[in-house]
Amino acid sequence: MTKYNNFPRYLASKKTVDDRALNQRVWDALAERLNDPWDLEILEIGGGIGTMIERLHERDTLQHVHYTLLDEQPGNIAAAKERLPKWADEHNVTWHWEDETLILWHMGQVTQVDFLAEDLFNFLARRPADQQYDLLIAHAFLDLVDIPATLPELFKTLKPNGNFYFTINFDGETIFEPDVPDDAEVMAVYHRTMDERITNGKPSGDSHAGRHLFTHLRNAGAKIEAAGASDWVVFGDESGYPADEAYFLHFIVDTVRGALDGKITPRQIESWASARHAQIERGTLVYIAHQLDFFGSVP
Ligand SMILES: C[S@@+](CC[C@H](N)C(=O)[O-])C[C@H]1O[C@@H](n2cnc3c(N)ncnc32)[C@H](O)[C@@H]1O
Repeated sequence: MTKYNNFPRYLASKKTVDDRALNQRVWDALAERLNDPWDLEILEIGGGIGTMIERLHERDTLQHVHYTLLDEQPGNIAAAKERLPKWADEHNVTWHWEDETLILWHMGQVTQVDFLAEDLFNFLARRPADQQYDLLIAHAFLDLVDIPATLPELFKTLKPNGNFYFTINFDGETIFEPDVPDDAEVMAVYHRTMDERITNGKPSGDSHAGRHLFTHLRNAGAKIEAAGASDWVVFGDESGYPADEAYFLHFIVDTVRGALDGKITPRQIESWASARHAQIERGTLVYIAHQLDFFGSVP
């Protein structure tokens, strides 16, 4: 059993890394859309523990919105329900529950959050056709599904001229520095596992999802209004890493190790992973992942 198996903690540790990475031009396009005095319906898919809601508030982007946070893991949704009120207390945001809906209130602006612990494809199949959204958010999610098959279904959830904000889409480059033995083989096999991933009998992954989104989005009838890089860049020093980013790095190294189980020799993968974990302990590991963000509309 690995030590690095707390997924909600990984998502929490990822927040500061994502904060630095998100592409500012693409964010600005989103912020302009959200600068709308009318109530907006937002659906976030694969939303994890709700850090995007926190970020949208922290950057003063939300006016009156009804936000549906959907994630298939009940543990993530439970963590979101526990975490958001604590976050609100720390950020001068008033909150209360109305049945299962969390109401966040700040400077006269109200965010109603509904939580759904459900598989996206179940949700899409049971959703009444008239339940539609102004904005669809998928953050560090789309590279986990069959994108060309999923986009047309996702876009049916949008109102006419609805918008999408699809961020942190992995795009083929994982860089760990400084070098350790077997790096090239570890990375090549790791990326191949993304391309060959099957979930519930369906292809579910693409190691170059970011660049392929330009074509997939256009083929699904979308207009890309802003796109740009959102690379994760994590580095430390002798005193360690910012916030909980050492945990983030250990979790990533452990994810690579787990993905390669049975695909290269146990000796190679164990010595690669222990060299990387040791670099994290010393604050010397640098980790970069190339990713792309998109904002656009669907007529
Ligand atoms: C890499 S995590 C990103 C979570 C969150 N967006 C964040 O960045 O903090 C991907 C999330 O997608 C969720 N997920 C994966 N497949 C899903 C599906 N078919 N339906 C709903 N959620 C799914 C996982 O439970 C996980 O929380």
